[in-house]
Amino acid sequence: MTMRDKEELKREIIKAYHFRHATKQFDPDKKIPEEDFQFILEIAHLSPSSFGLEPWRFLVIQNEKVRERIKNTSWGATGKLPEASHFVVLLARTKQDTKYDSPYLRDHLQNVKKLPKDHMEKYLQRIEEFQKSDFNLLDDERLLYEWASRQTYIALGNMMTAAAQIGIDSCPIEGFDIEKMNNLLQEEGLLNDGNFSISVMVAFGYRVIEPNPKIRRPFEDVIKWIK
Ligand SMILES: Cc1cc2nc3c(=O)[nH]c(=O)nc-3n(C[C@H](O)[C@H](O)[C@H](O)COP(=O)(O)O)c2cc1C
Repeated sequence: MTMRDKEELKREIIKAYHFRHATKQFDPDKKIPEEDFQFILEIAHLSPSSFGLEPWRFLVIQNEKVRERIKNTSWGATGKLPEASHFVVLLARTKQDTKYDSPYLRDHLQNVKKLPKDHMEKYLQRIEEFQKSDFNLLDDERLLYEWASRQTYIALGNMMTAAAQIGIDSCPIEGFDIEKMNNLLQEEGLLNDGNFSISVMVAFGYRVIEPNPKIRRPFEDVIKWIK
């Protein structure tokens, strides 16, 4: 890549970060082309996660009835549903699938990551230590879910940025009661057998009005160099 190409690319990326804003109102008449939404989903799929465990699932909610139920349950989704072109619920795997001795973990390492047997046992041991004493994730029922949930936010950020880079708007949504949303998703048969819990949601589509310019704390206030 030449110097000029790189500078151009950086300008484009920064422009996308300015373009992206939490879109409050979506145009009901504008739909994201299928290939563009597929691109956003690929970005989610390629996102990194701690130990590469991919402790998530992405539900693309296009069903009108389910959308209506979410709209009536999540205060943060007001103005985004039903108008948003696409709506994604990010699920985090629960303790049942993320504890070091869970069948999901073993299956993932063995059949997805295809680790050789001895390597896998060492990897599992490392995860066990990490969960038990590095991050103390076994101290409380919720902590493993919270850990998985944090991984989903990486995918969330990546999806929103990638969308912005191709001119698609988004709004992240955690304005909801977790228990109520889980009940709804459970009733719709979307949480398997307690393997998943809601983490966060995100609406995609196209803005109706232009947003205000970005407001952020001063750069020097949030970025500190330790030399
Ligand atoms: C994890 C997360 C959850 C959010 N939840 C909501 C929400 O439920 N409803 C909403 O309208 N905005 C929501 N927001 C949008 C934020 O208020 C917004 O990103 C922030 O004010 C910065 O503005 P900007 O994104 O336009 O730059 C959420 C943002 C994040 C990162």
